[in-house]
Amino acid sequence: NNIFYFAELESTNSFAKEMAKEAEEGTVVIAESQKKGRGRLGRNWQSPKGGVNLSVILKPNIPLDHAARLTLMTGLAAANTIRSLGLDARIKWPNDVLIKDKKVCGILTEVDAEMEQVDYIIIGIGINANVNVDDFPPGIRENATSLQKELGTEVNRVEFVQKLLYEIEQQYIKFKTQEFSAILSEWINLSDTIGKNVTIMTPSKMVEGKAIGITDTGAISVRTKDGKRVNLIAGRCVYTR
Ligand code: BTN
Repeated sequence: NNIFYFAELESTNSFAKEMAKEAEEGTVVIAESQKKGRGRLGRNWQSPKGGVNLSVILKPNIPLDHAARLTLMTGLAAANTIRSLGLDARIKWPNDVLIKDKKVCGILTEVDAEMEQVDYIIIGIGINANVNVDDFPPGIRENATSLQKELGTEVNRVEFVQKLLYEIEQQYIKFKTQEFSAILSEWINLSDTIGKNVTIMTPSKMVEGKAIGITDTGAISVRTKDGKRVNLIAGRCVYTR
């Protein structure tokens, strides 16, 4: 597979997007640091040197409304890779990886579709590996951690990236050859969100209740106070008491 490596880039997702149409499936873009690392919901992503910032281009033959499955798949791959270091990584829906309630990894999935069919999908993964989260701006640093901080020692990022890409590949093979429930059950095992009281915010609505499950398309199921069950495919998830 093609791997594009850069010391610095604006954003690996932006770079990947520019070449996605011509690129081979499995192409990887890695940057030591990003000047304009992008997060979900228009936020930015702190990407100093020492972190792992990478994007993978996938070209699955799936309908657009199955794309969220790949986001969950990637969160699972990242959590498994972090767990292989001996850390208790858990997944917050849709795709934050947490260690002891603090965010260590974020995933930004960007999809291009034609006629409701996925053309390509870029999965961007940012991991606070050997970065000092105390240097992050206030408001972010309180809820962030890094592999180095949790391990008490630096991680070998080359080995880590090798494991991560291997794990993504294994999950992707599973994605293509098995029912989604195979991935979903593993995801639910590592879920930090199921069973918690949550508020899910989308541009059009806000739903409060208990997270009771994930649907076959990757939506979160919330049971509201009045007993209704609402499924949300995307949004911001906040834990409420
Ligand atoms: C989030 O939690 O909001 C998602 C963060 C995703 C960050 C990664 S770093 C590599 C890739 N390139 C980007 O610009 N963003 C993603």
